[in-house]
Amino acid sequence: MKKIVVGITGASGTLLAVRFLENIKNYEIHLVMSESAKKVMSLETDYDINYIKGLSTYFYDDNDIAARISSGSFIFDSFVIIPCSTSTMAKIASGIADTLITRVALVALKERRKFIIVPREMPFSTIMIENMLKLSNNNVIVSPAVPGYYNKPKTMNDLINFVVSRILDLSNIENDLSKRWEHE
Ligand SMILES: Cc1cc2nc3c(=O)[nH]c(=O)nc-3n(C[C@H](O)[C@H](O)[C@H](O)COP(=O)(O)O)c2cc1C
Repeated sequence: MKKIVVGITGASGTLLAVRFLENIKNYEIHLVMSESAKKVMSLETDYDINYIKGLSTYFYDDNDIAARISSGSFIFDSFVIIPCSTSTMAKIASGIADTLITRVALVALKERRKFIIVPREMPFSTIMIENMLKLSNNNVIVSPAVPGYYNKPKTMNDLINFVVSRILDLSNIENDLSKRWEHE
């Protein structure tokens, strides 16, 4: 069975992570949530941690740096950090691995695995842009939480689904969450 590792950090957008997890099919899902992600979840959504845990096959604490996913010997198909805080992004760009999420990121980089981050901030500082460039130059797919408007979204759900469907596409997970552009 294919394996995906998902990290949720304390950027705004827990809803994106939940929708993403709800739509992953035919994968063993290894999920880590940072402490800040749990705080943001409680501040900006009505979800509780048990619902989110229940969407995963295995759930780890972010301080569990001995978890099996922390080793390069654990083979996974892709690692997605959704949403990705600019703090976690900066740590990864600097090679800091002091949490399970940043440790898996370091492994993904050294093992050249598929690695996607979904940063969310507005505006971006020059330092944030430099960090994104550094990660992009290291084959990380930087896919910010920026919806398109060409499908005439009517609800927040439409906007969430647009972003999440692109991340599912990038992770090679079949989905029809969002209408694809058709034009003669
Ligand atoms: C309600 C709330 C919203 C936040 N939104 C963002 C955000 O959109 N982007 C971001 O980079 N940080 C955001 N933060 C700050 C991060 O949570 C903070 O930098 C934290 O230390 C990140 O830790 P982590 O990367 O380990 O999850 C937010 C914090 C709170 C409380």
